[in-house]
Amino acid sequence: MAEFVILATAEEVAEAAAAEIAEALRDGAKTLVLTGGTTPKRCYELLSTLEVEWGRVAVLFGDERCVPPDHPESNYRMAKETLLDHVSPATVYRIPAELGPEEGADLYAEVVDYAAPLDFVLLGVGEDGHIASLFPGHPALEADGLTAGIRDSPKPPPERVTLTLEALRDAHRVLVMATGTGKAAAVAMARRGESPSGMIAGARWLIDRAAAGQ
Ligand code: 6PG
Repeated sequence: MAEFVILATAEEVAEAAAAEIAEALRDGAKTLVLTGGTTPKRCYELLSTLEVEWGRVAVLFGDERCVPPDHPESNYRMAKETLLDHVSPATVYRIPAELGPEEGADLYAEVVDYAAPLDFVLLGVGEDGHIASLFPGHPALEADGLTAGIRDSPKPPPERVTLTLEALRDAHRVLVMATGTGKAAAVAMARRGESPSGMIAGARWLIDRAAAGQ
């Protein structure tokens, strides 16, 4: 069963997520999978200030939009500006999604296979209940293997590369952050085990009161 921890504010969620990631890395987690979107930005900024032996850590990504890595919509760019420019991980494996969904997914599957096991995966959640770029009712949810490319994401941009449900479920730890009233429906679906957000049974959720519907 997924576990839901309710904190008062978005800032507390960011602080708790950063602290949990740093502790996991100090305890020996060697692979950290970052998420995109806006929710994790503050967490990344805080994480960059915490004590971590980054030289032991390989950083990967849960999904990427098919844009160049310096594009304003790039998940890699967001993580670089908020975290990766300020710390020195042993390796950063960004998703080469600018090559297109298929080639990007194929190349990244080799990377994930090489870097596995995924010790700590951070995820955000969309208002519709998507995680990474796995959208409700989308065929990519059934994809075999470690990655999938999609061309019709309901959240722009439409072309994306994502880890599959299979890859996410194989991770040792999955932490999902959700803040704000806009995420309350997605959290409620996850609690019922519905929608992609509810499909990772062992996930731990850090949510604020607004996302908890309070
Ligand atoms: C992306 C994501 C996606 C994101 C959620 C939440 O590339 O868009 O990785 O899964 O985490 O859509 O996004 P927000 O944090 O911006 O609400």
